[in-house]
Parts: sequence; structure tokens; C-alpha cells
Amino acid sequence: MSEFIRYIKTMRAFAKSNYIPIVRDKTIMAVAEIIEKENYKNFLEIGTAIGYSGIIMLSSQKGAKLTSIEKNESRYNEALKNFKNIGLDTDVNLILGDAGEKLQELEKSGQKFDFIFLDGPKGQYISYYPHLKNMLSENGTIFADNVLLGGLIKNAEKVTHKNRTMTVKMQKFIDTIMADEDFDANLNELDDGFIVAKLKKSTEY
Ligand SMILES: C[S@@+](CC[C@H](N)C(=O)[O-])C[C@H]1O[C@@H](n2cnc3c(N)ncnc32)[C@H](O)[C@@H]1O
Repeated sequence: MSEFIRYIKTMRAFAKSNYIPIVRDKTIMAVAEIIEKENYKNFLEIGTAIGYSGIIMLSSQKGAKLTSIEKNESRYNEALKNFKNIGLDTDVNLILGDAGEKLQELEKSGQKFDFIFLDGPKGQYISYYPHLKNMLSENGTIFADNVLLGGLIKNAEKVTHKNRTMTVKMQKFIDTIMADEDFDANLNELDDGFIVAKLKKSTEY
């Protein structure tokens, strides 16, 4: 087993024993496939956790760079350690803070990204959406994970008072991105469901 695989497995075990949610297998395989196929090099991630998905994204593409936002300080510190241990610390810009605020700062700075992995607070996807769209470069892709919310989106009877707001907001995000004519968007029901939305080629000359 390679050192890389060994390290990734250790991270997965750490996440499990510390109840830290990380991306599921089929979903991260889909992410890596898109990155390779489209030759994307400049990634933005909302929700770093301990750096598991970020490390897999960076190792799917030579010369790629990742900017990733995490608001939980101990997870952010664990991610910093993991990127360093695996030798990818010079390819990552880890940002500690609330994604809502940090996205606005990034947008103002004029940075663009060709692949955006949206994996942060599920009730906020809809409010992040206009900022993410503005920061997406030509032919770029937004990949939004967990859009089915563990079955809540498809089974109205499971929705309780506690999770109603999040479910309504996620449904609004799904409806908005799927209807946006600037994107070719698909909802894939693998794992917890993910939307892959690729900007259409501009037809202006
Ligand atoms: C599903 S986990 C991310 C998993 C990670 N992408 C992976 O697969 O390895 C979601 C993360 O978003 C973080 N988060 C929640 N609300 C946030 C916010 N407002 N701003 C930034 N990060 C947030 C959580 O602390 C959590 O670590």
C-alpha cells in the first residue's frame, strides 16, 4: 500500500472516530473524474473539515491549487497538519472563518476558480450561490454535495420542525441551479446526492 493511501485511510478513520462528516466514496470519485477530464486546476472548497476531500482533489491533478474555507478551528488546524504531512501545503490556501463572509472577500478580490466543491452548511447553499457563480471561470463547474439531505428532499414526511428551514432552502437551491440557463446541470442520486453544474460555453463573439 502506498504512503498516500495509508495516510488517506488514517484520515478517514480519524474522521469516523471524531464524528466529522467527510465526502463519501462514489462522490469523491466523481469529483476526481471531473477534475481530470476537464483539466481543472484552480479549486475552491466550502467546508474543508480535516482536508480529506481537498487532498484527494489536489492529488487528482498535477499543478492544481486549492482555496478552502472552514469555520471550525480545530478542524482547520487538523487540515493544516494533514496538508503539510502529505506534502501539499504549498498548493493550498486554507481560510479559517465563516464561508458567508469569506466568500464575499474572495469575490471582491476578483479571484476566479474553475472547480467549486460546495460541501459546507447545507442551509446556506442558496445564499452562497450568486457569489459562487460570479467566481466561476469560463467552462467551470460547481459541484454541490449532499443535496438530498439524507432523504429529506425526497420524503416530505421525514421533515420535522427542526429541519424544515434547511430543507426548504436546499429545495430552493436545487430548483434555482437546475433552472439556471447559464448551466448544464444534473442531479446525481448516488450517495447523498450531488449536483454537477457546468457553465455553458459563451455564444457571444
Ligand atoms: C461535510 S463537512 C466537509 C467535509 C470535507 N469537504 C471532506 O469531504 O473532507 C462540512 C464542513 O463545513 C464546515 N462548516 C459549517 N458551517 C460553515 C461555515 N458557515 N463556514 C465555513 N465552514 C463551515 C463544518 O465545520 C464542516 O467541517
